[in-house]
Amino acid sequence: MTEAGRLLAGTLTASLAHDLRNVLAVIRTAAFLATQPERTPRELEKITRNADRGLALIELVLGMVRGERPERAPFEPLRALRDAAEEYRGMLEFELPAMIPEVLGVAPLLTSAFVVLLDNAHGAGARRIRVHYAATDTFSDPAETPPSLTLFLADDGPGIPPEMTECIFDADASARAGGTGLGLWFARYALEQMGGALALGPTSENRAGASFQITLPRTI
Ligand SMILES: Nc1ncnc2c1ncn2[C@@H]1O[C@H](COP(=O)(O)OP(=O)(O)OP(=O)(O)O)[C@@H](O)[C@H]1O
Ligand SMILES: [Mg+2]
Repeated sequence: MTEAGRLLAGTLTASLAHDLRNVLAVIRTAAFLATQPERTPRELEKITRNADRGLALIELVLGMVRGERPERAPFEPLRALRDAAEEYRGMLEFELPAMIPEVLGVAPLLTSAFVVLLDNAHGAGARRIRVHYAATDTFSDPAETPPSLTLFLADDGPGIPPEMTECIFDADASARAGGTGLGLWFARYALEQMGGALALGPTSENRAGASFQITLPRTI
């Protein structure tokens, strides 16, 4: 492995620890709740879903070492968004579209990217998340303009600190006590490996809060 490859592998491994900590904490709580008399099927679904997320994250890191990109499949992004929102039930309120067109990628990795964004929004003090999307059409020549879908996530928190806007996706950029700065770096890496992107969203004069945008290829 080259020096650059070794550096990337180091950052990826640390990022994996960042996201797996979240996955295992959810599994631990859901497993405890599943032993209680008032358990619901939701706890077991949570365990399965988070185990899938953990496995997809590990596959992503092993793929880097093997020099392979993750295997993509068509899926509904709304499902991935709802899975992430489920982890923030009672903490954040959501305004979601009724449907979102299918995309190509790895569903649990999109859930993980959403979890990073929701974790940051919640940590910054946001209460509400609004999601909308824009899709390019699937009729034009895909060789010229491959069809894509962009999801916009906006929160009602204090917004990105001005000194963070230039470096927010760097692996060590954090303005939070105890933060690693790895969350957004890893979410962006995962989306890029799926042929997508993660960026700061558009800012509007009258809307406070932070906004991010995720782009993924659309299925044709
Ligand atoms: N929704 C948001 N509102 C306000 N600031 C944000 C938001 N999302 C990200 N940030 C800023 O971006 C920084 C980087 O986020 P990132 O997830 O990469 O790392 P972190 O949250 O600081 O660390 P960790 O994820 O380990 O807790 C945060 O420290 C915060 O300053
Ligand atoms: Mg974070």
